[in-house]
Amino acid sequence: MLNIALPKGRLGEKVYAMFEAAGFPCPSIRENNRKLIFENEAAGVRYFWVKPSDVAIYVERGAADVGVAGKDILLEYEPEVYELLDLAVGKCRMAVAAPKGWRDDERYTLRVATKFSRIARDYYASIGRDIDIIHLNGSIEIAPILGLSDVIVDIVETGTTLRENDLAVVETIVPISARLIANKASFKFKTAQIERLTRELGRGGKESV
Ligand code: PRP
Repeated sequence: MLNIALPKGRLGEKVYAMFEAAGFPCPSIRENNRKLIFENEAAGVRYFWVKPSDVAIYVERGAADVGVAGKDILLEYEPEVYELLDLAVGKCRMAVAAPKGWRDDERYTLRVATKFSRIARDYYASIGRDIDIIHLNGSIEIAPILGLSDVIVDIVETGTTLRENDLAVVETIVPISARLIANKASFKFKTAQIERLTRELGRGGKESV
């Protein structure tokens, strides 16, 4: 039995459809109820719906053999997992944004509000800019408007949230998409199954990483 952690929500439904098409169906998952675990013994799969930011925790600790997590989470938390495939869905980018017309003044430490402290710290270290991280848990866009920070580091998908708050992208840090990840021990003991899943999901131009 392959235990698979999927991110709850719209992206997860899209991802499940990919797993189904890859030959790992579990029809009961489409019954729209509040259940979180679904099993198809014949196909050898058990799916769990978990909070997207928790998928890597389930996989790292072996509660799930494989899962689908955003590259943002993998960069931020660096879980001890194998990253097997770029699923090329859930595409967005990690970016620096600021109020329109904002210019950096290098005489001052830059105040950066973000949920992604490690990504922000690594990025500014790479360009040698001194920063002060203000770690927030959501509604990051509000920080520069209220003067809590100069810029934000956050996910930009359509750009609507930035636009509606009079912010603009200053710099793209890294493109983001959903990745297939595997627990290291599971990969050793369920190699054939996990490799088949990776291969079948990879058909259609997705890149192996
Ligand atoms: C993310 C991100 C932005 C928004 C960007 O938030 O933090 O707020 O999406 O999307 P857009 O460019 O299409 O407007 P999310 O909805 O994931 O929740 P969060 O506020 O908890 O971060």
